[in-house]
Amino acid sequence: MAYIKTKHMFFINFLFMVLINLSSLSLADTKVYNVLNFGAKPNGLVDTSKAFLGAWKAACEVEGPTSIIVPKGRYLLNPIQYSGVDCKSNDIAFVIDGTIVAPRDYQVLGGVDRWVGFDRVRGLTISGHGTFDAKGVSLWDCKQGKDGEKCPQGATTLTFTNCNNIVIKGISSLNSQLYHIVINVCKNVALEAVKIRAAGRSPNTDGIHVQQSTGVTIKNVIVKTGDDCVSIGPGTKNLWIERIVCGPSHGISIGSLAKDMDEEGVQNVTVKTAVISYSNTGVRIKSWARPSNGFVQGVTFEDVLMRNVWNPIIINQNYCPHQKNCPTQESGVEIKDVTYKHIRGTSLSEVAVKFDCSATNPCKGIKLQNINLTYRNREAQSYCQNAVGKVLGVVQPKSCLN
Ligand SMILES: *[C@@H]1O[C@H](CO)[C@@H](O)[C@H](O)[C@H]1NC(C)=O
Ligand SMILES: *[C@@H]1O[C@H](CO)[C@@H](O)[C@H](O)[C@H]1NC(C)=O
Repeated sequence: MAYIKTKHMFFINFLFMVLINLSSLSLADTKVYNVLNFGAKPNGLVDTSKAFLGAWKAACEVEGPTSIIVPKGRYLLNPIQYSGVDCKSNDIAFVIDGTIVAPRDYQVLGGVDRWVGFDRVRGLTISGHGTFDAKGVSLWDCKQGKDGEKCPQGATTLTFTNCNNIVIKGISSLNSQLYHIVINVCKNVALEAVKIRAAGRSPNTDGIHVQQSTGVTIKNVIVKTGDDCVSIGPGTKNLWIERIVCGPSHGISIGSLAKDMDEEGVQNVTVKTAVISYSNTGVRIKSWARPSNGFVQGVTFEDVLMRNVWNPIIINQNYCPHQKNCPTQESGVEIKDVTYKHIRGTSLSEVAVKFDCSATNPCKGIKLQNINLTYRNREAQSYCQNAVGKVLGVVQPKSCLN
């Protein structure tokens, strides 16, 4: 058996060699632009944004597939905005194996809202083992200090706006000042094997924020951060999240909705196979208590393991962080067809399932199927306000749905 196995592996290795040779041949046909050839110094000390833009411009000029390479090393990068408006190529591979570092002084990024931005780009794959290190710690300290209000808001590490056909694969984001990755007004975006990390105490460091976008998939990602692992804003459609490890964090959240009176809805969101640990909330839908015209429709949370989560399952239509200066009307956001299936684990608060819905727009079509959440090895509780739905299989804590 062992012999056969070895022989088998030998053959697979051989196949790999052939494949690697083939792929380097095809690479030779693709135009490759290395940032080092555009003057980037990989020492982490001198700003490389001119070199990074130079390589982008060159790649953009190519009709057909092309690639940009950032080899191992440290690259200091000031805020940089990539535009796809003048790009001829719609197939750019951006391979990042180096560490991209933000300037030491948080004011440099702090006053702009994007550190690395992509706008109107069509057809881009960012991959490699590289890291974006925004060095956010000193800004978090500022925000949490006694003159917190005077600190700048901070920049999102990676922002994609008005983009199509984007793949982000393998890279890491470390210590963002504000959000790590934002997808806004995009179509067909795949995030895969992305790693995101910031301290649990870091303010507003959402992992991945999606809004006004269609066809975003997030797979095999690990997020440890101070706010939501994934936050889902108005206008999100056909979002698929699969195999996510999350926490510390504020879990996976739809909302906050009803920030504005006029808002697009959220529809067709699936979260499948998640582990959420040491988080304030697990799977959440939240809206401010404002009569906005938004909605949430067709959401499935399936196969989620909660480990020490304060509010594992929650819909909150009276969202009011810090309990001050919040609207106190009834939420106008209509929430319907939300399925919770095979969700188990431990709650750190007694109420493990909470549906606090709007009196004028009750939550409808809530489905609870095979739920087992416990509180200190005891039975947990459910809370329902204006929530209508049904139960399938064994559901603990006992449902209070109408
Ligand atoms: C819902 O979204 C998924 C991708 O997340 C897609 O495959 C499916 O077709 C969508 N369903 C509808 C009804 O649009
Ligand atoms: C629920 O989970 C607890 C803890 O893991 C376990 O002891 C219990 O048997 C489970 N209940 C059901 C109905 O599966």
